[in-house]
Amino acid sequence: QRQMCIRDRAEIMFIGEGPGQHEDEQGEPFVGRSGQLMDKMLHYIDLDRSRNIYIANIVKCRPPQNRTPLEDEAMACLPYLRAQVALIQPQIIVCLGKTAAMYVIDREIRITRDRGIWRMKKGIWMLPTFHPAALLRDESKKRDAWHDMQSLRDKIKELGPDGE
Ligand code: URA
Repeated sequence: QRQMCIRDRAEIMFIGEGPGQHEDEQGEPFVGRSGQLMDKMLHYIDLDRSRNIYIANIVKCRPPQNRTPLEDEAMACLPYLRAQVALIQPQIIVCLGKTAAMYVIDREIRITRDRGIWRMKKGIWMLPTFHPAALLRDESKKRDAWHDMQSLRDKIKELGPDGE
């Protein structure tokens, strides 16, 4: 899957679960309904996938019937993701949903309990939040997700990323 990278160095990286049908067809992450909602939320905090963020997924191929990736599938793709992180050198990683958060931040993470809580790992600030597909399924989660986006905006201000 071709990944999105417009700038040489995006300080903020978003990690999802894996490509769905639209992403597979177009070869780009988050281009379906989830992606549209994500773009809208990013826009409110002055982020733009064509300008200042980088988007990746835990797995790089669409699992059959869009199921959650199995552990060995995630493990097979993690070296690729680590290489992406090493190249991008983000200051911040936002994990979208449980799959991203458990493989990137903490195996024991529970998204409903732990979303919105920043952790520093290997020198990178990490924020777990809901996957946009979860927000489409359950509107009541949007309030918390919006809170997380504001927290992200505050963190960006605090860190003062260069270049913008
Ligand atoms: N959901 C994901 O987790 N990733 C995508 O790229 C699209 C939908």
